[in-house]
Amino acid sequence: MRNILEIDGVKAVVSFDPELNLLRGEFLGLAGGADFYAASVSALKAEGKKSLKVFLDVCREKGIAPYRSFSGRFNVRLKPETHEAAVLAAAAADKSLNDLVEDAIAKVAQVSEAPKLQPVTRPARKAPDVARWVMDVAGTRGDAAFELVDIADFKLPLLDEPVPPSMGQYSKPHTKAWAAKIEQYDGFVFVTPEYNHGTSGALKNAIDYLYREWNNKAAGFVSYGTTASGARAVEHLRLVMGELQVADVRAQVALSLFDDFEGFTTFQPRPQHEERLTTMLDQVVAWSRALQQLRVAA
Ligand SMILES: Cc1cc2nc3c(=O)[nH]c(=O)nc-3n(C[C@H](O)[C@H](O)[C@H](O)COP(=O)(O)O)c2cc1C
Repeated sequence: MRNILEIDGVKAVVSFDPELNLLRGEFLGLAGGADFYAASVSALKAEGKKSLKVFLDVCREKGIAPYRSFSGRFNVRLKPETHEAAVLAAAAADKSLNDLVEDAIAKVAQVSEAPKLQPVTRPARKAPDVARWVMDVAGTRGDAAFELVDIADFKLPLLDEPVPPSMGQYSKPHTKAWAAKIEQYDGFVFVTPEYNHGTSGALKNAIDYLYREWNNKAAGFVSYGTTASGARAVEHLRLVMGELQVADVRAQVALSLFDDFEGFTTFQPRPQHEERLTTMLDQVVAWSRALQQLRVAA
């Protein structure tokens, strides 16, 4: 059994390197990052902390999501007799072979129902299609640069910072990575669904994680939903923006699940939405530019 160290919320495997006569640490679940070495456990922890910081700084500079994403697909090689026994066991349990393997691995890996650093967004969410359309329209403009930020990539658990974000004492790597991302921008276009007359818990949670990084910036909204096309989710977000000192523009885009998603599924926005989106982007770009002055002065 290998030893596991937790450094700033990220797990690392510890082994002994006989050639170097040193302990070796290797982070798990990061999208990259170097191994780290030291002569004692306490020195290894300190080295790991340094190495993690360097990696997160590089990710921040390059705009890369720091955590590795897992596809859930990999090849497994079994002995033929194990394969046969598994097929028989799956049939006896009235399960697919895939489910049998998944259950067995989950048991050994002790996967809990809601593991930490697991995306908290809905699996079949419509936001990526809507956000892609916003990016396509924004990409035709020459007055500002736009980037797509998907909260799912940051795998934020339910807010787990011990100190309120307005104090600016972020302690977890996922918070630091999220803060570094949001800090880069002058303004935002939030794409939100309507859940029970508000925004989604996942978006609210991601917003709640930070404070200063939102302040004195501009925002516009694109919503989608059924009866009110997500308008109530935007009203909810406007209240939140006030507390975060975000200047939210008037124009907004409200997409209807009935009229802008064929069969409630395939996103096909009616043509009039593009004009509305352009007006909203005009306002967000103008206010984002104006508010830069305020942040420089602060
Ligand atoms: C938990 C939940 C609550 C919802 N509540 C509302 C609602 O109050 N008003 C509305 O117009 N649509 C509501 N809907 C419909 C969603 O807006 C619609 O399913 C949308 O596609 C969800 O966004 P998503 O696909 O990004 O998860 C709700 C959906 C869910 C899953």
